[in-house]
Amino acid sequence: MTAMPQPITKTYEPSRYKDTKQYIGFHASSEPVYLFSDTALLERVTEFNRLFKGELSYAVKANPETLLLDCLWNSGVKSFDVASLGEIELISNRFKGAHCHYNNPVRSDDMTSIAAHKYGVRSFAVDDMAGLIQVSALGLTDVEVSIRFKLDHFDAAYDFGSKFGADSKQAAVIVKKAKDLGMRCSLTFHPGSQCADATMYVAHIKAAAQISKEAGVKLHRLNVGGGFPLPYENTKLASLEQYMQAIQNAVKIHFGTDAPALLCEPGRALVGTCASLLTQVIRIRENGEVFINDGIYGGLQEQMLVKLDLPFRIWRGEKLVYNSIDGKGNCTETTVFGPTCDPVDRLPNTLALPHNILEGDYIEFGLMGAYGSATATRFNHFKSEKYIEVQKGFSTHS
Ligand SMILES: Cc1ncc(COP(=O)(O)O)c(C=O)c1O
Repeated sequence: MTAMPQPITKTYEPSRYKDTKQYIGFHASSEPVYLFSDTALLERVTEFNRLFKGELSYAVKANPETLLLDCLWNSGVKSFDVASLGEIELISNRFKGAHCHYNNPVRSDDMTSIAAHKYGVRSFAVDDMAGLIQVSALGLTDVEVSIRFKLDHFDAAYDFGSKFGADSKQAAVIVKKAKDLGMRCSLTFHPGSQCADATMYVAHIKAAAQISKEAGVKLHRLNVGGGFPLPYENTKLASLEQYMQAIQNAVKIHFGTDAPALLCEPGRALVGTCASLLTQVIRIRENGEVFINDGIYGGLQEQMLVKLDLPFRIWRGEKLVYNSIDGKGNCTETTVFGPTCDPVDRLPNTLALPHNILEGDYIEFGLMGAYGSATATRFNHFKSEKYIEVQKGFSTHS
């Protein structure tokens, strides 16, 4: 295969590009880049605010990139689900007055104490009695404790209950104890990331009402988690509106007049659509295997863990030559390797790529705003972390 001539780098560069085409027109990009659209992110914030009848918090772990955090903050998101002292430091140094919810349920005594005393965190999730005692030992009177519970069944890309959550019986005991200790008491759950079934939220809300009743405690708040899904290819999902409607109805039915204030803390569904990952084909072997400049040690790490079919499009210079959303005509299932000197660096599933793909072509993966750069390593000194601003992001509609 002959290498494509590279686009000529022009002298004047905008700080923010119109779209992927314009970015490519300015760059012979040899490193992977994330094309971030604040317009796409603001659309999602507006959508969540319109549909969710409670407070919107952002799960920082999905993407701590500062461009994106600033955009969220400026759009009015003031609450953050943080999972580590590093995330707390990032948020509290950057945004004065931000509310940090330390909702990683298992922490050392030091982590909890530093969060409370150095950064002023007053909201903690726990999922066992030891965790509750740890928070109570802070000796603070204004702490909110959210008891995380789980159900047996899940229908999501990840089983969060395999690591976290008290069962409903234990949760009721912990809630009662928290009340006895004089703490503000909330419940929280996470149905699993990329939760494919809206009725899982309904089942959790029903269980939350039963836990509250059994403990005899009126909840301060119910945190319905993240887990809201993205429209990866080959998925048939209810809309975000249907998920939110299901949540609202379930709260009404199961809590009635005792309904607690609601909070949700999405990561994937809030920020997934705002960035694409622009990679380049660096080599095509005679047998058709394709090597690109990012892989499973970089931004495509999540591909190794769960099957999420990313939409993608192919650019030859500034010309769009293929869009997976428009269909798979003239494509071959192709093995795709990442750039590292390591055999594991291979996408676990083949990609249906057009026959005429060439070295130098760009493969732009959509829905890469969550768990892409956030989980990338620097193995072999390859990096997958550069963000470029574009006005118009990757669309998942044809
Ligand atoms: C406590 C908690 N909340 C929210 C999230 C965000 O989940 P998602 O990205 O599925 O919305 C996570 C993800 O790990 C989490 O652990």
